[in-house]
Amino acid sequence: MAWPCVKGTIILKAKNPSEEDCALAYAAEILRNGGLVAFPTETVYGLGANALNLQAVKEIYRVKKRPPDNPLIVHITGIEQARDLVCSIPREAVLLAEKFWPGPLTLVLAKKKHVPDIITAGLSSVAVRVPAHPLALKLMAKAGIPLAAPSANLSGHPSPTTAGHVLDDMAGSIDAVLDGGSCSIGVESTVLSFLSDPPALLRPGGITLEMLQDVLQSKVMDFARRQQSKDFKGTPSSPGMKYRHYAPQTPLYLVEGEGADQRRKLADLNKKLAQEGYKVGLILFEESRDFYAAPVIKVLSSKKDPCLAAERLFAVLRSKDFLDVDVIIAEGLEEKEIGHAVMNRLRKAATKIIVP
Ligand code: TXA
Ligand code: MG
Repeated sequence: MAWPCVKGTIILKAKNPSEEDCALAYAAEILRNGGLVAFPTETVYGLGANALNLQAVKEIYRVKKRPPDNPLIVHITGIEQARDLVCSIPREAVLLAEKFWPGPLTLVLAKKKHVPDIITAGLSSVAVRVPAHPLALKLMAKAGIPLAAPSANLSGHPSPTTAGHVLDDMAGSIDAVLDGGSCSIGVESTVLSFLSDPPALLRPGGITLEMLQDVLQSKVMDFARRQQSKDFKGTPSSPGMKYRHYAPQTPLYLVEGEGADQRRKLADLNKKLAQEGYKVGLILFEESRDFYAAPVIKVLSSKKDPCLAAERLFAVLRSKDFLDVDVIIAEGLEEKEIGHAVMNRLRKAATKIIVP
């Protein structure tokens, strides 16, 4: 079958089950031969390589321009495959895997010796997850290998939630992208480390803190929030936490808080920047859409629908309409449920945060 190409990167987009079989067989062959294939997961697109092929994993770091001290998640098909990679799986981690796999939960566990250092950036732990997207699962089954896969964006850019986003960053530097449409969750998986007791939330994501605590019936240490507080002076427990992320090319101000105070702060900032001659873009929620005027306005969702905000966030940050604005102002959201992950990403995208 002749697949379309952009700058040499093949776009594997299937219109029916037999084309899907061809696309998966092709992608699996590329992966087995040490190539790079971006594939859809329920969270964001991943940039996959054979996790046991050192040269292929090295290529991931090179094409993403990823700092070598930021380890990768190994994607697997089930808990049995995890046992090949980690020393042991604590009872609480088993409970969570049974409840949330396949799904947007990554578990950090002590690694077995044979897991290559390049995947774990020299750490003694490895991150594993079973993605829920049917194409990701079929691809791994067909390839018969675990896939090392970071988000398929250039380091520092917002994660890709469509094949188009992947091509914007990666066309010409990877072998293929398997096009599965838009990702349904839209923010990356929750990363939970079992190297501490209680377990530590390193990155909020698709599985919320509330959902984790509900299953464990005990506390989870919210390390992600601690590390984002301005008083935090420790070493990041997840190397990825120390980099500015998800950043559009334009400076971004995040206005936190809620109600009248947040609205006044956002209105004042918008007015001041416009008066100084800057072209401003706004990222807002439906409830406040009518309070402001600006050359570019993007509405994420209602504040009552944080799941939709998560699904749309990266596409909005990547919006071409923001390319010619001078500054973006984003409205913050209440930090509960998946709103926690949305705020984590907005804070990492922000050049300046205005607190209540
Ligand atoms: O939803 C997701 O998790 C997506 C899809 C493709 O599965 N993947 C993803 O990968 O977001 P990446 O590489 O963009 O983010 C992985 C995060 C980084 O913050 C990294 O530092 C952390 O997981 N991580 C990986 N291995 C770790 C380890 N052994 N200990 C602590 N943190 C780790
Ligand atoms: Mg990433």
